Amino acid sequence: MNISLSHYRDLLTTYLKPQRRKVAMLTALLLGSIGLQLLNPQILRSFIDTATSAGSGAGSFQRLLVLAGLFIAVALISQAVTVAATYLSEQVGWTATNLLRSDLARHCLRLDMSFHHARTPGELIERIDGDITALSTFFSQLVIKIFGSGLLMVGVLVVLFLEDARIGAALTLFALLALVVLTLIRNFAVDSMAADRQAHAVLFGFLEERIAGLDDLRANGAGGYVMRRLYQTMRDVVHLAHRAAMRSSTVWIVTMGMFALGYALALGLGAYLYSAGAISIGTVYLFFQYTEMLRRPLEQISEQIKEFQRATASIGRVQELFAVQSTITDGPGATFPSGPLAVEFDAVTFGYGDDAPVLKDISFALVPGTVLGLLGRTGSGKTTLTRLLFRLYDISDGAIRLGGVELSAAKLHDLRQRIGIVTQDVQLFQATVRDNLTLFDPTISDAQIMQALTDLELLPWLQSLPDGLDTELAAGNNSVSAGEAQLLAFARVFLKDPGLVILDEASSRLDPATEARIERAVDKLLRNRTGIIIAHRLATVQRADEILLLERGRIVEEGPRARLADDPDSRFAQLLQTGMAEVLA
Ligand SMILES: Nc1ncnc2c1ncn2[C@@H]1O[C@H](COP(=O)(O)OP(=O)(O)OP(=O)(O)O)[C@@H](O)[C@H]1O
Ligand SMILES: [Mg+2]
Repeated sequence: MNISLSHYRDLLTTYLKPQRRKVAMLTALLLGSIGLQLLNPQILRSFIDTATSAGSGAGSFQRLLVLAGLFIAVALISQAVTVAATYLSEQVGWTATNLLRSDLARHCLRLDMSFHHARTPGELIERIDGDITALSTFFSQLVIKIFGSGLLMVGVLVVLFLEDARIGAALTLFALLALVVLTLIRNFAVDSMAADRQAHAVLFGFLEERIAGLDDLRANGAGGYVMRRLYQTMRDVVHLAHRAAMRSSTVWIVTMGMFALGYALALGLGAYLYSAGAISIGTVYLFFQYTEMLRRPLEQISEQIKEFQRATASIGRVQELFAVQSTITDGPGATFPSGPLAVEFDAVTFGYGDDAPVLKDISFALVPGTVLGLLGRTGSGKTTLTRLLFRLYDISDGAIRLGGVELSAAKLHDLRQRIGIVTQDVQLFQATVRDNLTLFDPTISDAQIMQALTDLELLPWLQSLPDGLDTELAAGNNSVSAGEAQLLAFARVFLKDPGLVILDEASSRLDPATEARIERAVDKLLRNRTGIIIAHRLATVQRADEILLLERGRIVEEGPRARLADDPDSRFAQLLQTGMAEVLA
């Protein structure tokens, strides 16, 4: 992606505007610090000229003392101002980038599942955290180093001009030449930096995934394979990091060469003017000192070029990420009826990405308040069908209606508010029990939560916790049993009070007591709601009013459960005969 100046300008205005006051204060501090820095060589020149001049009486000694005191005072104040400016610029930089970081995180959360499936968690972490951290250095350093250095440079040149037009002109020419050279090589290393960071992102993604899958890898003896893949990934990283380092050091060497040139110029000119008797030895020192001061900002700017290149690469990727638009967007805002919802699939065809369709020509209708038992072998498309209802993906053909409303006509939030899903594996967050149940919705009262927990027979469990609703659950599902996790997920659905409940039953076996509890909970969950149950157990199938049998993405049988069960030729009846476990598990 091509990064133009307007990208920087947009970023700066968007994220610095809220901090106008601090930025103004920072500017004042910078200007003060620059003035003080310009003052100091003048004091030194007076000191040298006083010291070297003939009449060294008590008066001039007094004067030397005053000058020395002044020099120290100015140096100290200048340091203090610099510290204050640095502090403020870091603050401004971090505030700005934290704003950007949360914007980016929010943007990513809105992107659809296809986006998230195409990227590993590690890659997104590197994108949202790594790139933004690079930007934060850029934000805070940009102000102090690039802006401040630029001003200091202009100040030095102006003062030099006032001293002697010849040396002023010579050093201005030099500074301009240096800037042109620096600008020309500015973009030299950017691409290799980007490739370097991308390689790191891939490496982190790889590590994250392997560490998460440690149990499976160990159990299957895949250590050798993982190590080989690790070496391959690391080889890419080394290669790209090496190239990026070579390129940026070339930039650095060129910059250093420029400085040597400026030094020689100032010393040569000073020596010439001194021997011609045009200036005092103090003024020669002044030239030397000012050139030294010119050297520092140039050096800093060139150093910042590295940062600037990193930041440019980061801005590029951040903009790229911002440009990714979710293909699943809000509809005009049709509203769903209250109460149990009708479900209607009309010749629906769907495939993930460009893959072959996973669901083909699916049509069925579900009357409000009835329960559909969704059966089929593993991979037949049951979970996929429920994802479509939730609009995690959009269908390629046909129509899906909920409560008579086409899904794409409603706002996503409204749609998802009306459907409760309990997935095969329930995800608990590292947060309090309360937050895990309300999913951080503060409008749900404790009384409602307690009611839901009572309904689901979870009160004894809650009472066994040290801090009740305030007990922190650990991330992952290690702190609760599989049955409890299921029931907690049910409680979430209760609190949401949706018109359609989708239950993707876990195929894992639970102990009979827990199963019975879950049975009773499912009863309550389905009361006065439409339900779709992906069933793995006979008991769950028995509560369905309608049965739909999927095979490789197609409906092979559909109808009222009672009728299918009575018809000895139906596949469903045969399933009941042979036992669900053998056929469906
Ligand atoms: N996110 C995805 N991206 C690409 N393909 C997918 C994705 N999720 C599922 N599939 C594919 O879609 C097909 C149907 O998968 P689905 O998860 O819907 O099956 P299922 O009937 O729920 O199986 P199970 O009983 O094992 O849960 C499978 O071939 C699967 O590989
Ligand atoms: Mg499934």
